Formats: sequence, C-alpha cells, structure tokens
Amino acid sequence: MNKAMMTRTLGATMFTKIAVLLVAGLMTVGVAAAAEEGGLQPANVHLNDTAAMTRGAKLFFNYCSGCHSLRFMRYSRIAEDLHLNPADVEKDFIFNGAKIGEHAVNNMPFEQSTAWFGKAPPDLSLEARAKGSNWVYTYLKSFYLDPSRPLGWNNTLFPNASMPNVLADLQGQQVAVRKAAAAGQEGAIEKLELHTPGSLSPE
Ligand code: HEC
Repeated sequence: MNKAMMTRTLGATMFTKIAVLLVAGLMTVGVAAAAEEGGLQPANVHLNDTAAMTRGAKLFFNYCSGCHSLRFMRYSRIAEDLHLNPADVEKDFIFNGAKIGEHAVNNMPFEQSTAWFGKAPPDLSLEARAKGSNWVYTYLKSFYLDPSRPLGWNNTLFPNASMPNVLADLQGQQVAVRKAAAAGQEGAIEKLELHTPGSLSPE
C-alpha cells in the first residue's frame, strides 16, 4: 500500500494508533501504569485491539522509522504480538532489507542525523513506558509553524524540539494563537489553530 492509499483508508485516530504501537512495547515487559499527567490529551489506547495496533505499526514504519528505531523490538516479535504473518510484516514494515528476526534498527547514521536535526532522533522502544502514551499522542498533535526554528516547526509540549512535523500532510498545519503581551515581547501561547487543513479531519 502506498502512502496516498494509506491516508485514504486511515481513520482519523491515526495519532492514537502510533501511540498504541509505541505502547505495544509494554506487552513484552509487563504493563507499567502510564502516568496521566495534567494537560495531556487521552490517547485511548486499547492494547488488545490488534487491528488498530497493526495500523499504528504501519504508520510507524512509514512515517517514523526513517529517523527512529525500535532497537529492543524484533520484527518477528511484532508479528507475534500482532498475530501477523511474518511475510506481511516483511512486506509492510521492512524497508531496509532487514530480516524478520532482526531488531527494528534504522540505517540513519548517528553523526549525520545529529548534523541534520541538531539532535539524533532517539530510539523509541521504551518511549511510551518512559513518557506515557498520552504524552506521545499529545506531542504528535502539538506541532505548530514557527519560522524562527531551523526546520520551521515548534511544539507546545516539547518546546524547541528538533523534530519536524512529519504528520503535517495528514493533520494540516497549525499556528499558535498568542495572548497579548507588552511591546517587544511575545505573548504566551493560548492555543493552536488549524491554519491549513490536512487530508484527515480533526475528528
Ligand atoms: C526527519 C526525522 C524524524 C522523523 C521522520 C520522526 N522524528 Fe521523532 N524525533 C526526531 C528528532 C531529531 C527528535 C529529537 C528531538 C529533540 O530532542 O529535540 C525526535 C523526537 C521524538 C520524540 C521525543 C523523544 C523524547 O522523549 O525526547 C518522539 C516521541 C518522537 N520523536 C516520535 C516520532 C514519531 C511517532 C514519528 C512518526 C510519526 C517521528 N518521531 C518521526 C526526528 C524525527
């Protein structure tokens, strides 16, 4: 399936699906309570919904794995946990010639990625465990246009994150609406507003 087809067949809850995939790592280590810190949007992850987790895995390997690896996760384990045929996992998730029994490590050279982004994209195997799935979900939805940043994007949850908004085609582009401030100063961000729609509706 190519990206355009994928976009059409996706439900609008795709951000959840990626958070779900990152949470799937929990299945192998036992469920740790994901902290529900204030200000985060609920990802409503259902670990036993393998169809949603499979869509999340596809999204992850299409949109994220170019930069991020899941180095503690073998493709074969993903197939097992999601009840997938190993051949389908090879076809849909592996784009770098890796074998099904290998760990999901990408080929991005550390030094180059540090030079490109100012910071190497971290491994995400334990991300949901470390930050909580609601954090990942809210992070992915909190990018806004900011011409002062090297890649043109900033993030309200993770200010000055060096990651670009890789889901902008789907979500659309958000801009920050700021509170009034004294002359020469920038007001605090009040909310994010959809400026240019993406291919998915906000719902
Ligand atoms: C073009 C490269 C690139 C792509 C593609 C990308 N990221 Fe990132 N990501 C980064 C970089 C660089 C950082 C480090 C940000 C920083 O620390 O300033 C990052 C950071 C993160 C973090 C925060 C990690 C932490 O705890 O500090 C998460 C979560 C994340 N990315 C998830 C994703 C997901 C999910 C996708 C796919 C939808 C994705 N990323 C796609 C480059 C990328």
